[in-house]
Amino acid sequence: MSVTAEAPSTAPDSELFSERLKAATWSAHQAAEDHGFTQALMSGTLPVAGYTAMVAQHYFAYVALEEVGRALAGDPLAGRFHYPELERVPALVTDLEHLLGPDWRARIEPTPATRTYVARIEQMTDHPEGFIAHHYTRYMGDVSGGQFIRRTAAGAYGLTDGAGVAFYVFDRLGSLPRFRAGYRERLDSLEMDAATADRLIAETRLAYQLNTEVFADLGRLHTAR
Ligand code: HEM
Repeated sequence: MSVTAEAPSTAPDSELFSERLKAATWSAHQAAEDHGFTQALMSGTLPVAGYTAMVAQHYFAYVALEEVGRALAGDPLAGRFHYPELERVPALVTDLEHLLGPDWRARIEPTPATRTYVARIEQMTDHPEGFIAHHYTRYMGDVSGGQFIRRTAAGAYGLTDGAGVAFYVFDRLGSLPRFRAGYRERLDSLEMDAATADRLIAETRLAYQLNTEVFADLGRLHTAR
């Protein structure tokens, strides 16, 4: 069952960029949310090997995302989304050590879809608004629907002490609703011309699609079709 079946109550022509962005990309969000792999994850029926494989794919994506974020920290547009307190790679290492053991790094590799996704993220070094699109798609998801995943995974895989689901724990952010509101304010205060704003929206759709393709790769390996 979809947790977010409702369409957002925001009009596509809203004056607030955050609302325009959400409205223009929500159908792509639903495709990611409704994918068979995501549904297995959310219903707690995904085997732990599938969950672990997803954490491993996150590792490759976030290494790229956070490297590009650091490279763009001084950029007038993308630098507004340089949030060191969001960085997920240390938590992913904690989770992978717990799930796979000390030799975790030798035991994981990116799927073809993850390679494509990582290459796209790396290209955003030259496209600051595109970096914001990828940043938004992942981190706003992690502090939103990711919190449902955290609870389901903790229960399904017995990961109650945090290791294994550390990726979803954002202790340094304080209140997540307040963080989300502040993030939307940053989106709304970006100084962009219309073409740049349109490119950010288009790149967000692509970011959702690339994420969905990573799920498709994982689904082929880890869920019954
Ligand atoms: C696992 C299933 C998922 C569930 C249950 C879910 C649920 C939600 C919910 C309830 C919100 C609304 C939060 C709010 O308005 O404050 C949300 C927002 C969001 N989700 Fe998901 N989501 C899922 C998967 C994903 C995936 C796979 C991605 C991206 C790869 C993603 C990216 C986002 C983003 C970017 C937002 C913020 C939208 C905005 O307010 O502008 N979600 N999600």
